[in-house]
Amino acid sequence: MNAPRLIQVSAADPAAIRAELVAGLEAPHPALSPKFLYDALGSRLFAAITELPEYYPTRTEAAIFREHLDAMAADLGPAPTLVELGAGNCEKAARLFAALSVRRYVAVDISADYLLAALDRLQYEHPAMQMLGVGLDFSDALDLPAEVGPGPRLLFYPGSSIGNFAPDEALAFLRRMHAACAGGRLLIGVDLVKPLEVLEPAYDDALGVTAAFNRNLLLHLNRLIGADFALHDWRHVAFFNTRESRIEMHLEAARDATVRWPGGERRFAAGERIHTENSYKWRLDDFADLLGAAGFRKPRAWRDGRDWFAVFAAEA
Ligand code: AVI
Repeated sequence: MNAPRLIQVSAADPAAIRAELVAGLEAPHPALSPKFLYDALGSRLFAAITELPEYYPTRTEAAIFREHLDAMAADLGPAPTLVELGAGNCEKAARLFAALSVRRYVAVDISADYLLAALDRLQYEHPAMQMLGVGLDFSDALDLPAEVGPGPRLLFYPGSSIGNFAPDEALAFLRRMHAACAGGRLLIGVDLVKPLEVLEPAYDDALGVTAAFNRNLLLHLNRLIGADFALHDWRHVAFFNTRESRIEMHLEAARDATVRWPGGERRFAAGERIHTENSYKWRLDDFADLLGAAGFRKPRAWRDGRDWFAVFAAEA
């Protein structure tokens, strides 16, 4: 039986993180990168979000894979090397292994350690497969280590995480993915525009799990920069910005609040907001055009019956 290998390509630089966070808090319109939503508790809260009745993306994408896996496999052909970005618990890629005759699975996530348990479990189930865990903050650069081996590769980016990038950033990221395919293919999940009555509750659920996920960012900030955010001063706000075609998440000061951290402070007036996440919703044709602009050819998509979500394949 093979054993999973782990490689940590880039580790977070605490000084750079601190500088980025302080600049975000001190900006005229305070904003923080959504990647800071995912500390250990934030990752668990996100996993809980995917179970909520209101949060349709995860289960809709899973249904598309269940219904169309044979058609996808016939279209894509074998994919000896499968590289999954944002692999997390590696469950989504595992569903593709048999259909795509995968021989080498490369799971990429911010922390290689976080991948170990999932890869150990998968290795037990697929003893002959080569498993590699790569710790890499791929939102900055997508330099896969030489251990991934030569191309072509099938790059797999499920979960509509591409929606957390603004269109210009998404284009730049898709270009990096195009290079990383090394002549292979891309398989990517994309959340589509749909009625407001479906979109907004998905990001402001009745149980308050998304609110907890958003507000937990403040606890993470307190740890990262030594700030003194008091949770009861802040509430979760989420709405669909139709002009920008995106869900916006914010943290809004419920009352005047002064937040201090070593070397700085900021006064927030009641109603002032910190922008914490965008989740863009795409139209099918616009996303196909974006893939073309990034250098991908022959985009095609499989959708659910309600046209809420699409899984695109394209050639690098
Ligand atoms: C990870 N990402 C695709 C999620 C989304 O839907 O944008 C993150 C999320 N934020 C709030 N709920 C879920």
